[in-house]
Amino acid sequence: MTNRRQFLKLGASTALAGRFPTAAARSNSEPKSLSLEAVPAAVNLVGDEYPDTPVWTYNGTIPGQQIRLRHGQQLQVTVKNALPQPTSVHWHGIRLPNAMDGVAGLTQAPIEPGQSFEYRFTPPDAGTYWYHAHLNTPEQIGRGLYGALIIEEQQPVIVDRELVWIIDDWRLNKQAVIIDDFDNRHDRSHAGRIGNAPTLNGRYKPTIPVRSGERLRIRIINAANARNFALNLDALTPSVIALDGQPSGPYTPDGAIVLGASGRTDLIVDMSGDPGSRSKLIDNYYPQPYLLATFAYSDEPPLREHPLDTPISAGTSALPQPDLGNAVKQQVVMRGGAMGGMQRGMLDGNWIDLRELAARGYLWTVNDITAHRLDMPPLLSVERGQSVILEMHNDTAFEHPMHLHGHHLKVLSVDGKPPAHEQWRDSPLLKPRQKLVAAFVADNPGNWLFHCHILEHHASGLGALVRVV
Ligand code: C2O
Ligand code: CU
Repeated sequence: MTNRRQFLKLGASTALAGRFPTAAARSNSEPKSLSLEAVPAAVNLVGDEYPDTPVWTYNGTIPGQQIRLRHGQQLQVTVKNALPQPTSVHWHGIRLPNAMDGVAGLTQAPIEPGQSFEYRFTPPDAGTYWYHAHLNTPEQIGRGLYGALIIEEQQPVIVDRELVWIIDDWRLNKQAVIIDDFDNRHDRSHAGRIGNAPTLNGRYKPTIPVRSGERLRIRIINAANARNFALNLDALTPSVIALDGQPSGPYTPDGAIVLGASGRTDLIVDMSGDPGSRSKLIDNYYPQPYLLATFAYSDEPPLREHPLDTPISAGTSALPQPDLGNAVKQQVVMRGGAMGGMQRGMLDGNWIDLRELAARGYLWTVNDITAHRLDMPPLLSVERGQSVILEMHNDTAFEHPMHLHGHHLKVLSVDGKPPAHEQWRDSPLLKPRQKLVAAFVADNPGNWLFHCHILEHHASGLGALVRVV
């Protein structure tokens, strides 16, 4: 028995040593350089009974090539555009220089077909991030232009294995071809483009092989145009260690793991099922719960008899604490959409009634202004270093994950209640009629988009600009 236990321990620590580079190896900080080609491809999304689906990819796969850096390492990416339309790449959640933010039409010119653009920056924070196209996003992200961007902590949490899951959903016809109604008016005025084929890493209802007793870190990224997820891990007891890339907890969530569109959650999960058994991963955000994936345990004996007792914290956030006493307060009121009761909105400084706005494709406003262009007058302009409190009010009948580029927001309260655990979000999710107050230090100069990450909402006016000078 002692031998077996020692053997199991040894097996685990050997596996860990092989998987994570030692501190010495980490101090090597050569830039990571790679190229990403935005290119059409055909991949099987929904199973062998169906033909491959024509998609748009980075380097030919769904999700696109995973980019992994060590904390402090510079990234150099040459993006080549082999699509039939212009594009750009945004590094979602990364606090980077404005010129590298990848918002075509605001921070850079579009990358035309056949052209390239080089991005170069050093992410200041470790964590789970992602990259995606940032032009004509309902179509470009809807066709698959995204990938994971992982920045490893200097002292990673000790686990046996790490999984990176990009969850998405697709709107497919019976031949598994993407239905190309990306400007669908109903989607724009309601909950956005919700698909009919949810996938995990580009597979419909995949089986995920696991071993009894192993400890996993699961980095989950919601890349869907509009779908929010509430993940239920059956009998497993996950611990949340990070939200939107920033450390939080660790804590055991009460209920499902909620990810608004574009959100991320890092979990530590001890796989406590029996060898040979299976367990379900269910999404029950919307009224119809469904199976997203299945864990399948190998027949091997449990990796260990008791869960590891090593710490699981991802550390503490290194973000600057906002100075609440001297902060500028800004109201942010979202209006519009179906059943929203909005009468009119401002476009280019003129009040326009809802019918006329809708005829032009605009259905939403922030502080009564509809975002019909990216380089609009700023909602808020502050000096570098200023602390800001955003008092957001979702006065609509739909959910809005509100993404601020270039910064993270510290959530102070949701409907008046402070969150149970510290949360730094780059895309806090506001439920219908909800009020969410969040603060940040505007320490990154430039023009930053602040928009709903339900891509059809942004495309129909739900956006604003924050300027830091
Ligand atoms: Cu994830 Cu404006 O982007
Ligand atoms: Cu929205």
